[in-house]
Amino acid sequence: MDFKNKIKISPSILSADYASLKSEIEKVKNGGADMLHVDVMDGHFVPNISIGPPVVKSIRKATDMFLDCHLMISNPYDYVESFVKSGADLIAFHVESNSDISETIEKITSAGVLPALVVKPGTPAESVFPYLSKIAMVLVMTVEPGFGGQSFMDDMLPKITAIREKADGVNPGLMIQVDGGIVPETAKKCIAAGADVLVSGSYIFGASDTAGAISSLR
Ligand code: DX5
Ligand code: ZN
Repeated sequence: MDFKNKIKISPSILSADYASLKSEIEKVKNGGADMLHVDVMDGHFVPNISIGPPVVKSIRKATDMFLDCHLMISNPYDYVESFVKSGADLIAFHVESNSDISETIEKITSAGVLPALVVKPGTPAESVFPYLSKIAMVLVMTVEPGFGGQSFMDDMLPKITAIREKADGVNPGLMIQVDGGIVPETAKKCIAAGADVLVSGSYIFGASDTAGAISSLR
């Protein structure tokens, strides 16, 4: 999978119709999406519950799309194996979780899956700096995690730029993903700030023209 030098779109299936997941996935794949964003919530780290490994396993059987799994769970270290076995291609976990960050990155990497770190809006850019050379991506949350359909937080833009500048020295290929309130207007600001992977749920799944919605974000 060559993701270099391109703006990648990762539709969040949190806004899809879970009863028709296969056709929802085909719709975004045919619409030009580069990856699929899978939001995993445990009702503890965030005040909402979504899906877990059995659904990821079924998605893996249904598509060859790159599976970008965003774990909003308290103890990601304990579930790495389960998500790896289910077929995740990338596992993103929160720096605010209870797991040891270096050990969790190591566990994901040694399983042959790409590791990524996620920061909530209140967490500074510096929190990921010590790990930038060991991870494939940083996800900068542009809303409080837990729910789709919230408004983009403009004050997250300097955080994206700070991470991009730091990464230029230690890991120039680092992907920076943004998640929450992404529509064409906010996508443009994120790209200008240094992001290259855009997650979008309600905007893409709510659109009647899926391909048009996806291309309008690039
Ligand atoms: C929020 C999730 C997001 C969410 C984004 O906690 O991490 O991925 O689905 O939804 P929109 O694009 O509707 O803000
Ligand atoms: Zn997400």
